[in-house]
Amino acid sequence: MRDPKILPGAETGVTPEPLKTGIELLVNGERFMHTGDPDMPLLWALRDTLRLTGTKFGCGLGQCGACTVHVNGKAQRACLTPMKSLAGQHVTTIEGLANGDQLHAVQLAWIEEDVPQCGYCQAGQIMAAVDLLKRKPDPSDADIAQLNNICRCGTYPRVRKAIKRAAAQIEADKEAEKKAKAAEQNGGSK
Ligand code: FES
Ligand code: FES
Repeated sequence: MRDPKILPGAETGVTPEPLKTGIELLVNGERFMHTGDPDMPLLWALRDTLRLTGTKFGCGLGQCGACTVHVNGKAQRACLTPMKSLAGQHVTTIEGLANGDQLHAVQLAWIEEDVPQCGYCQAGQIMAAVDLLKRKPDPSDADIAQLNNICRCGTYPRVRKAIKRAAAQIEADKEAEKKAKAAEQNGGSK
């Protein structure tokens, strides 16, 4: 019987491949093991490794917001987020925002208001808007202005309209859900 202290490669003289270790996280609900440089920014891993190119590179300095994604549901600049900070975390990109075929209310509002011009900044704008509406379900113009996502095409007025439209829709959906639940309970108690 082989001495358990002897590694398999030692018997044969062949050096075994080191076990691959890395940083494991969830990206859009799927497990992802990052085995590269732990200091690599998330934006690189998303675009170059996972080919999730909806998230854009703008400034690389945390200033433009083109790279905005969600980490555990909160908006974060992917260009400033090192992979080593993401072990066990949940990352959502624009590709993972819809629920199957059902677009998010913010995505629908963006279509209704015809927000994008060149489109480059828009994934970041949408991800930032979704986060804002979680924190402020009825945001003021000042709340929206604080988003700080830059659009070189100047789509800010349409971004503002779309966020307000989405806020109203989310509220209406909640009300409809409450009514449906109440009707169900009333029906069940008869
Ligand atoms: S590319 Fe990340 S903030 Fe500009
Ligand atoms: S739509 Fe062109 S940069 Fe925003």
